[in-house]
Amino acid sequence: MERVIGLVNKLQQICTSLGDNALSPQSILWNKLPTIVVVGGQSSGKSSVLEAVVGRDFLPRGTGIVTRRPLVLQLVKTDDPNNPDYGEFSHAPGRKIHNFEDIRKEIEEETERHLHKMGGTKVVSPDPIYLTVYSHNVPNLTLVDMPGLTKVPIDGQPPSIVQELDDMARQYVKSDNAIILAVTPANADLATSDALRMARDVDPSGDRTIGVLTKVDIMDRGTDCRDVLLGKTLKLKHGWVAVVNRGQADINSRVSMKDARAREREFFQGKPEYQDLQNTNTTFLADKLSNHLINEIMKSLPSIQSYIEGTIAKLTKELQALGGDVSHSRGAMLHMTLQLCQKLERAFERIVDGGKDGGEK
Ligand code: GDP
Ligand code: MG
Ligand code: NA
Repeated sequence: MERVIGLVNKLQQICTSLGDNALSPQSILWNKLPTIVVVGGQSSGKSSVLEAVVGRDFLPRGTGIVTRRPLVLQLVKTDDPNNPDYGEFSHAPGRKIHNFEDIRKEIEEETERHLHKMGGTKVVSPDPIYLTVYSHNVPNLTLVDMPGLTKVPIDGQPPSIVQELDDMARQYVKSDNAIILAVTPANADLATSDALRMARDVDPSGDRTIGVLTKVDIMDRGTDCRDVLLGKTLKLKHGWVAVVNRGQADINSRVSMKDARAREREFFQGKPEYQDLQNTNTTFLADKLSNHLINEIMKSLPSIQSYIEGTIAKLTKELQALGGDVSHSRGAMLHMTLQLCQKLERAFERIVDGGKDGGEK
């Protein structure tokens, strides 16, 4: 992910110098950057895949635990490598949570609170939870963890749930800058994959879809997913990646992320049917994702550039209207532009804070 971090950082510096608060989810830059969305059936391993890609444990996952609201996860790269990582929820601004176990608890509790508030009859809600994770070791990225798709309602869920889950996922994957991680368990039939159905629907050309095969370790004895990985079973433009994440027993006995990755490597290297393949493990998936992200960012550069040029033109005009001398050197121009940005920002702050404290400067 290093290259992605570098590229996004440069863009962020430019946008920040133009007054776009790159740390805000509303910023222009964030809206231009690709979003990674995981879709797939219930318990297919979506949350596990997302965690593995990020390299941290922080999502509710498990057989009994179902993600019941979309989680929009914003990774924000911080400048100081010595600052500890932390998460902050939009529903609890200002509360920095340093323990990632507590982050997971808060996701569960906030889901409960919300569903309760909605009358307690709903089992899922399209209202996302927004979590921002600040760390020096992440690229600026938005990832979305989705409730699992299903074809039939399970355990007393209302029939409408099938459609609700579908609509919910669709909302996130239909956007052109969404990269779809279509998660399918290797121990189930590809033809019935909910993830592929959805991905094909919204991305028929396959430009934005990466197939992820989970649970390769618990496939039926005597079967393997070699043909899928070679693209012989079902071809995807960007191909398939097989992964092995922690099973329920590993979760219960708190196997660490690091150990899980080591075991994954061992698993694939120890199997003659996979030894010669590259597309088997989470590192490969993360690299593939990085390349994809860089391509996408490159594609959106013209629109980011035109935003930048538009902003400069606008600021120049405003500067002239305020009587500023625009004929100065670039350095002086930039200085004045920044001053103007700060002025505008303060003016905005006064307007926003006006209701709270009387609005004095
Ligand atoms: P989600 O509901 O799609 O988000 O799936 P989770 O990530 O919560 O995983 C569901 C269950 O499958 C959990 O018990 C995980 O431990 C288990 N699981 C996920 N990936 C794998 C895998 O690659 N191998 C094995 N054996 N179990 C997995
Ligand atoms: Mg989940
Ligand atoms: Na689950």
